[in-house]
Amino acid sequence: METPHLAPFITRKLLLWYDAQARVFPFRGPKDPYRVWLSEIMLQQTRTETVGPYYERFLARFPDVFALAEAPEEQVLKAWEGLGYYARARNLHRAARMVAGERGGVFPGDVEGLLGLPGVGPYAAAAIASIAYGEPVPALDGNLARVISRLFGVQEDIDRPETRRGLYALGLALMPGDRPGDMNQALMDLGATVCLPGSPDCVRCPLKEECVGFQSGNPGALPVRKPKPAPREVSVGVTVFTCAGRALLLKRDKALLKGLYVFPLAEGDDSPESGRDLARSLGLAAGAPTFLAEARHAFTHRVWNMRVYRRETDTAPGVPGGVWADAAMLAALPLPRAMDAAKREALALLRQTGTIRV
Ligand code: ADE
Repeated sequence: METPHLAPFITRKLLLWYDAQARVFPFRGPKDPYRVWLSEIMLQQTRTETVGPYYERFLARFPDVFALAEAPEEQVLKAWEGLGYYARARNLHRAARMVAGERGGVFPGDVEGLLGLPGVGPYAAAAIASIAYGEPVPALDGNLARVISRLFGVQEDIDRPETRRGLYALGLALMPGDRPGDMNQALMDLGATVCLPGSPDCVRCPLKEECVGFQSGNPGALPVRKPKPAPREVSVGVTVFTCAGRALLLKRDKALLKGLYVFPLAEGDDSPESGRDLARSLGLAAGAPTFLAEARHAFTHRVWNMRVYRRETDTAPGVPGGVWADAAMLAALPLPRAMDAAKREALALLRQTGTIRV
């Protein structure tokens, strides 16, 4: 791909559009590195509209990198609850401890240094460095790749490393010396509001005259991408073991949802009997199952099709990595979204038991 001679013109035009049309978000306030870093980590796999309120709450709770570094991991996961991709929260916490502990609270000042922080990859490093420090580097994620591939009519498979390198070079050519952070965010906004994945709204696009995709007549055909394999569907039996107004939760130590609390679950078996094996392995004497709910949760590479059951136990013995939580604890501990249905059912049960017992 050759460097397009129109790049500087496109950049000025898009910045003018951005000055008039920029979306307003809570995270587009002060550009100190802590705030920019926090928001860009949150924004990596979560929609902008969702991030806004989380960002504000998180910032109120952990106003600077020292506050975040000093907090116990469980509190950080709790503040992250619902955003998903919890490895981000654990890496965020580790990075905060590095910055606070080893760097006196000062964030690395360029892409190179930022890449040394846990959880900061090339995309986030470029977004942070361009927004917080004015470093002219493109923040090339899926959205920018789509916009740039249409703008310059890139016909190669967008997931191939050589294509990514070409797109990066084109993105670099679009970066102005003076406002690279705004330029990245202008490209993001264009991708989110006009240059949409399915059907681009070219009538409203400030760059339609320059856009090779538009001029060719079928911008929606770009970017070119090989279809991805469908995520694996897995049946999961979830059992809410209850005992005298408490329910058993286990802290996950598997990579998926690590550090979060879940009800005991059997991946690959959603039958009512799945709870019997769970009870045996946990050393519980449990009664017969009753069906509570069905739920589905999609992770990146896996979908859980869950059936949720309840089994009452006579005693609540200690279980390694487990807690017998009452309603208040259940509400306070960090649970993943995948447990929403089971949690709702369990809370209703525990509150009922609570009322009877009072
Ligand atoms: N997605 C990732 N970073 C963003 C930002 N700064 N503005 C809008 N969308 C984004």
